[in-house]
Amino acid sequence: MSLPKPLQILIANGVNLDLLGRREPEIYGKQSLADLEQSLQNLTPALSKVFGINSVQLHFFQSNHEGVFLEEISKPWDAAIINAGAWTHTSLALADRLAAVSLPFVEVHLSNLSKREEFRHKSFSAPHALGVCYGFGMDSYTAALTALFAYFQKKQP
Ligand code: DQA
Repeated sequence: MSLPKPLQILIANGVNLDLLGRREPEIYGKQSLADLEQSLQNLTPALSKVFGINSVQLHFFQSNHEGVFLEEISKPWDAAIINAGAWTHTSLALADRLAAVSLPFVEVHLSNLSKREEFRHKSFSAPHALGVCYGFGMDSYTAALTALFAYFQKKQP
């Protein structure tokens, strides 16, 4: 009997998120991107158990180059968690790409965008997302991953 293909989930962080832990820690926290990726990896077996979805592979990606980022999110992932950083508020190219690729994704932000400058209130990508989690620091990603597990659980036969 052939095993089901593992779900391939991309965790994509865009511009300046490589600086996590060093960049404005009062806003973005003291943990590094590597810490964040490790904690999502550690959480995955527990979520798999709770939601009854056994085979999930997380793929971690970060780039400061918009074209490289757009190409990565265009690969045939089953789903993604995307924090596009400042491109969220500026990039029509990101919005057009997301409209074109039909990727189920959750948009995340560490900070509470609604509490911040007006220019951070607009997201070009959010209209294409399943949903958006923001304001919980690294727990925004935890919430997003949990939401994706629930999404796939509902899709199971
Ligand atoms: C961010 C919020 C953006 O406004 C900002 O440009 C970032 C990080 C967040 O995770 O809170 O780079 O996406």
